[in-house]
Amino acid sequence: MTGLQGKKILFGVTGSIAVFKAAAWVHALVKEEALVTVIMTRAATRFVSELTFEALTANPVHVEMFGHAVRTPMAHISLARDADCICIAPATANTIARLANGMADDLLATSVLAASGKPVMVFPAMNCNMYMHPATRDNLQRLRELGYIVVEPDAGALACGDEGPGRLPEWDRAREQLLACLCQQDLAGQQVLITAGPTREVLDPARFLSNRSSGKMGFALARTARRRGAKVVLVTGPVSLEDPPGVEVVHVTSAREMYEEVIQRSSQASIIVKSAAVADFRPAQAELHKVKKRSAPDSLALEANPDILAELGRNRHPGQLLVGFAAESRDHQEEAGRKLREKNLDLVVANDISGENTGFGADTNQVTLVDHQGAHPLPLLSKEQAADRIWDHIVTLVAK
Ligand code: CTP
Repeated sequence: MTGLQGKKILFGVTGSIAVFKAAAWVHALVKEEALVTVIMTRAATRFVSELTFEALTANPVHVEMFGHAVRTPMAHISLARDADCICIAPATANTIARLANGMADDLLATSVLAASGKPVMVFPAMNCNMYMHPATRDNLQRLRELGYIVVEPDAGALACGDEGPGRLPEWDRAREQLLACLCQQDLAGQQVLITAGPTREVLDPARFLSNRSSGKMGFALARTARRRGAKVVLVTGPVSLEDPPGVEVVHVTSAREMYEEVIQRSSQASIIVKSAAVADFRPAQAELHKVKKRSAPDSLALEANPDILAELGRNRHPGQLLVGFAAESRDHQEEAGRKLREKNLDLVVANDISGENTGFGADTNQVTLVDHQGAHPLPLLSKEQAADRIWDHIVTLVAK
């Protein structure tokens, strides 16, 4: 289950070559069990037929204002009334101009007018000169003033051969925007600092000490916080994950680098969540050249890394909320309680790393939230769902 499951999305498609990308978006939405109804403008049907979207959604596609009375009575009103949000992608310069002027000259424009109070998302896609033209800029500004959410296009090579802004964004960014528009903005105004992933402690140019953290939990926390309206900085060790859209991402390698980046940013943060699996120790000496088998020492001397979270706990400013993780293979709650007190935290997320579907590398997680009131176990969830539940709990702590 994702935040899109069961959401009713009225998807407007207008006449741009980017309709092929919109078809992929609709496919992705249906896969996440969103309930998608498509309205196409007549121009859009010149690029692909209604059949494409009918096959993808298993729903009739609406084009004409009149003539569907039997299938969908008062379609221009009822389609918008039934939707959780309206998403127009691609939105051409012409449709943007029509919407900016409150036109009601086809089913899509009329539905947008009838969508009072529903979020309307507009994804412009067109030639870069058309996009940069003052008339289009003015029309987009007017849409923003009307409360529509205008999502900036990507820049790059366009279908016409020009280069510049005007490409429909990749699905990942569009999905985040949609989820943000469908969920409560209960972290709006919060400055959130999150750490994720493992750290690497260099032994020699070929080797390092590290751990099995994939960064998935921290990245899920960053995405969900952003969706819920927070301004998010993510300091991450080496992982093979895409940077979450809309999040400032700082890449580090070692625990000491993470320490520098986190401490430097900590005073601006209202909430800090330390989900990184920081290496507690580093080799006492990083060798300049690869250590040869024949001259390898019998033992490895280690030095302690700074405990970033403990330092944050010592220097926290009033009102700042501090959340730690406890990666444990046994005695989860006791260990989490100990870390909560010793590191001066508000919440510890105890992470069972012993199970197959939990902890390091898995897409799911089973965590227990331990605060000063007690322990709150959560069921096995996807990391994104677990992240949302962690934020739900943090929101209650912020309100106290
Ligand atoms: N942490 C940190 N800096 C370190 C070690 C840990 O900031 N050098 C943070 C982690 O990001 C996590 C929390 O402290 O939020 C607990 O980390 P964990 O590895 O579970 O525990 P430790 O404090 O290292 O204690 P122990 O080794 O006894 O389990």
